[in-house]
Amino acid sequence: MANWTLTSKRMAEQVLSADTWLPSEMPEYAQGFMYMLGSLTASSFVALIISGIILAANGPDTWSYNGAMRFVAATHFWSVQAFFFFMMLHLWRVFFSGAWRGGRGMTWLLGAISFLIAIPTAFTGFLINGDLYSQWNAVQAKDGLNALGLGWVNLTNGGQMFGMHVVVLPLTLTLLIGAHITRVRIKSVVPPYPDVKSQSPEGATKS
Ligand code: HEM
Repeated sequence: MANWTLTSKRMAEQVLSADTWLPSEMPEYAQGFMYMLGSLTASSFVALIISGIILAANGPDTWSYNGAMRFVAATHFWSVQAFFFFMMLHLWRVFFSGAWRGGRGMTWLLGAISFLIAIPTAFTGFLINGDLYSQWNAVQAKDGLNALGLGWVNLTNGGQMFGMHVVVLPLTLTLLIGAHITRVRIKSVVPPYPDVKSQSPEGATKS
């Protein structure tokens, strides 16, 4: 039977360890630009959250008309573009370096679920703009969700979408990304695939 106390203790030891968060050495391969894409995704996410908090605190009436708030809304919009752009590049990097290897399956899974949750998070953001474009999207998508038996998600209900976009989905995403980065810190980044030449029958020294 699972021993929850022991499992929680082991997890806490890993998560709270100074070696996890302040490693004294970094593998050389992890210093390349390709390994920075995850951090660029995370940085865009921080910009998204900060600009989102300012937008939510001031309320929908300020999003379109007030000069300073237009700037915050534009920052929020461009942070989304950067977030998805860097996330896609990061996804290609982790895919082509087989980053699920060496016990990194959970890191992969948490990243993949974050990606899936990021999509409705962005979509509900478009919906709460309230312009004709977002109303058209809400009605079309509501038909789709109804057909899937998910009628309780009422995309034409501005209050429900506001709650989803500013509370439920971003909090879920923050927890998932936090867990993803914690797994990366515990397991470290994946080493490159072994050199194909070194696996050839002639041996590693052949050029
Ligand atoms: C939601 C946004 C995401 C953020 C903020 C994020 C962040 C990070 C960071 C900071 C790292 C450290 C290494 C690096 O920067 O390349 C990393 C590694 C990793 N990511 Fe993500 N990631 C995200 C999405 C994803 C997705 C969609 C996948 C795959 C489906 C994924 C799979 C992995 C794996 C397997 C590693 C560990 C192995 C390695 O770095 O070589 N991540 N992630």
